[in-house]
Amino acid sequence: MAVILLAVISVRAAVPLSGQNADLPFDAMTSKEPDAVVFRKVCVDCHPADRIVSARHTAFEWQETMEKMLTKGAKGTDEELQTVFHFLVKRFGKVNINIAPADEIAAVLSLPDAQGEAIVRYRAGHGRFADLDSVRKVPGLETAGLNPDTILFE
Ligand code: HEC
Repeated sequence: MAVILLAVISVRAAVPLSGQNADLPFDAMTSKEPDAVVFRKVCVDCHPADRIVSARHTAFEWQETMEKMLTKGAKGTDEELQTVFHFLVKRFGKVNINIAPADEIAAVLSLPDAQGEAIVRYRAGHGRFADLDSVRKVPGLETAGLNPDTILFE
């Protein structure tokens, strides 16, 4: 089961919704967003949504959680599982900006792919980011919508 999910989900396919962080707070139980509807279909039969989304997690952690839930009996088509994974990463994700690849940074921070790449390029040239202010120095980055809760500086 775990192997199947690994093959199905990928951060790369996640399409960031621009400006999504601006409309927080977001309620996973009432949102009419199509991805939230799929999330509720797949994930809230056995426990309430707030148990799931009370904390942010990295893409890797969400992947591990989803694999665990499949072993507990959660069910969905490949497409539904991929959708739920994207939903969790985009809405309830966090990312270590000093390690993660560009596509994961872009997905979690809701930035265009090119800006995820700009962050990684800048990191390669300047070393680790220490804080949000150092991220703001990346040329051309739209930093207004960045949510500090989503970025780890480990
Ligand atoms: C068939 C029932 C079932 C479904 C559907 C289900 N879960 Fe769970 N979930 C469980 C059980 C049982 C636990 C408690 C696991 C434990 O304590 O070891 C749990 C616990 C959790 C936890 C708490 C942390 C943890 O790892 O124990 C999270 C987060 C979670 N589920 C997320 C999800 C997500 C995301 C989905 C949708 C992909 C989902 N669950 C769907 C049964 C389910």
